[in-house]
Amino acid sequence: MLFEHYLEVQNYYKSHSWIALLLLGFALLFLLRQFGGSYIQPLFFASVYNAMAAYHKECRELKRQHFDSMKNQQSADPELRKKGVLRILEIGPGPGYNFEFYPVNSQLTVAEVNPFFQKQFFAQQSQYPHIKMERFIVGFAEDMKDVPDNSVDIVVSTMVLCSVRSIERALKEIQRVLVPGGKYYYWEHIREAEYKSVLFVQHLFSYTFYDLVFGCKLNRTSDEVIKNDKGFSQVDQQRFRTPLKGGLYAILIIHSSHVKGIATK
Ligand SMILES: C[S@@+](CC[C@H](N)C(=O)[O-])C[C@H]1O[C@@H](n2cnc3c(N)ncnc32)[C@H](O)[C@@H]1O
Repeated sequence: MLFEHYLEVQNYYKSHSWIALLLLGFALLFLLRQFGGSYIQPLFFASVYNAMAAYHKECRELKRQHFDSMKNQQSADPELRKKGVLRILEIGPGPGYNFEFYPVNSQLTVAEVNPFFQKQFFAQQSQYPHIKMERFIVGFAEDMKDVPDNSVDIVVSTMVLCSVRSIERALKEIQRVLVPGGKYYYWEHIREAEYKSVLFVQHLFSYTFYDLVFGCKLNRTSDEVIKNDKGFSQVDQQRFRTPLKGGLYAILIIHSSHVKGIATK
């Protein structure tokens, strides 16, 4: 009798184990939201971000074309211009995948909110000795008080506007630090406009776990926010899709809709 009851209880839990898993998942997400924001999530994200190496490999040539016109830019500072130096500020560089696109003699400052990326970033930087590292600021793109007004020739962001707390405030800061005529080069994944099922998944993921775990909202319309921003004198941008190859297809398709552009202050 007792044994039968035991088997019944065991079967009940076996058939309902998915409920326990779901509850455990929600409990973990709750804990992450409450206590993980400043330590667990950034540490986790910096540790796993290299999984995106396949994305960067696929996009390398497209990114090279996007950044190519940077070599024709000149510094607004007459002394630096004579020396062929360009002042670049990159927001959210992560492990530093963009060094290879910067012109020789660039002078680089970065504003990165996640301190756990520093080790990978400086390891990467050591391979590009022709780029002078000015400063690594640990802080928000929305509040770059350590960067003076009108002090950089170029601002760069790649896959960052999906993560910032406020795109509008980040753009305000970008406009403040850029010299008049300075350029903002951006390359961002954005909300899906073509495939409804992909958009559905983007919404579902963004409102449940994706932001908490990866600090990223898949359903942002960064392209529209930049285009409608009155602080730039000109915005040239194009929507495009990144190549979808290999086993990462399922992950890449929710990031596939992109915008690249150059906005002028
Ligand atoms: C998806 S990763 C992109 C990293 C790199 N730019 C790339 O193209 O691989 C987003 C990066 O933006 C950083 N980030 C997120 N919010 C930020 C903010 N408000 N200000 C500055 N950096 C931020 C993250 O820490 C992370 O390094």
